[in-house]
Amino acid sequence: MQNTQQIAPNIHWVGGNDLRLERFENMFPLPNGVSYNSYLIMDEKVTLLDTVDASIGRLFLENVDSILNGRDIDYLIVNHMEPDHCSLIEELCRRHPKMKIKGNKLTFQMIRQFYAYSMDDHFEEVEDGETLSIGEHTLKFYFTPMVHWPEVMMTYEETQEILFSADAFGTFGIIPGDIFADQSDFEKIYLDEARRYYSNIVGKFGAPVRATLNKVGNSSIEMIAPLHGPIWRKNVNYIVGKYLTWSTYAPEEKAVAIIYGSMYGNTENAVQVLASKLAEQGVTDIRMYDVSKTHPSYLISEIFRCSNLVLAAPTYNLGLYYGMENLMNEMERLLVQNRKVSLIGNGTWAPTSIKNMEDNLAKMKNIEIVGQPLQILSALREDQLGEIEQLAQDIKKSL
Ligand code: FEO
Repeated sequence: MQNTQQIAPNIHWVGGNDLRLERFENMFPLPNGVSYNSYLIMDEKVTLLDTVDASIGRLFLENVDSILNGRDIDYLIVNHMEPDHCSLIEELCRRHPKMKIKGNKLTFQMIRQFYAYSMDDHFEEVEDGETLSIGEHTLKFYFTPMVHWPEVMMTYEETQEILFSADAFGTFGIIPGDIFADQSDFEKIYLDEARRYYSNIVGKFGAPVRATLNKVGNSSIEMIAPLHGPIWRKNVNYIVGKYLTWSTYAPEEKAVAIIYGSMYGNTENAVQVLASKLAEQGVTDIRMYDVSKTHPSYLISEIFRCSNLVLAAPTYNLGLYYGMENLMNEMERLLVQNRKVSLIGNGTWAPTSIKNMEDNLAKMKNIEIVGQPLQILSALREDQLGEIEQLAQDIKKSL
């Protein structure tokens, strides 16, 4: 049965939730699922903004039909061609043969790539900044490439000042009934997942995100309607502020994330001792993660949140313990920068992990090494307590 909500006069949320999907893009764990949002504007020209993932296709079609109540769709605006949003385009073309698809050159190239069924007759190309009057509502298209793919557009509804923001301002997690961000405790329920979504999915594209914020920032925005997660109708500046922070790679909080790899518990013991020393120094926000246990997407999210990192890992095959190596490769790919980092390495013979971690960090911008890297030979010794005490002091001083 259909499950829709009106978000503004004559504008309806016709998306849905997927709590079954194990991993987003088959990579990122989804303990709280994900929503796929789609919006239908009932005006002189009936206009749908994006579709959904195939997993909720049946519900979506029922949602759309229930609002259409026998009318046809005049326009489908494709803000994003990733399959979690574009999976129902062919079905809509078959059901609404006169429907025009509004997109840009790249949108149409991707439709041809993803679909064997020809939809060229439906295409109506738009230009950046072009407007479309659909009756009482006027829509303006902003090209916002690389947030998160190159074809991405945002659509701004001028009458009610709603920004349909594609992936931007989205979050992992279903929106069970309370589809507006102000209907629940966003910081408690969604913020960590919004950061994990941003940092892993869009994190690499800080510069395009900033360009987008500048571009759409001149418009007055009453509501942000993203393709995932809750809709913003109050305190829009809160989530825009988060995006400003994340897109500049600025730490969100003065906090220490200790991320370690440990084969037999000895490296783990060293970071536990360091954590106690940090707490004795009065450091309050200390988080600790085993790189072999915690999915990298959560680690990346914490790296975006925290001002200070402690990276600790053994040597492996004369290189870096591969959980840590994988994480550092991902940090580099996502352009992590502006962080203070302290290092602990372990090795029983020919230790190299500190050098390996330093080499990886050298590829990132504006990384400050805090304190003297601590070299452990198999296990932390009593006579190294002074070194670890000093490291804790240096970290505390740098916060
Ligand atoms: Fe939600 Fe880039 O797709």
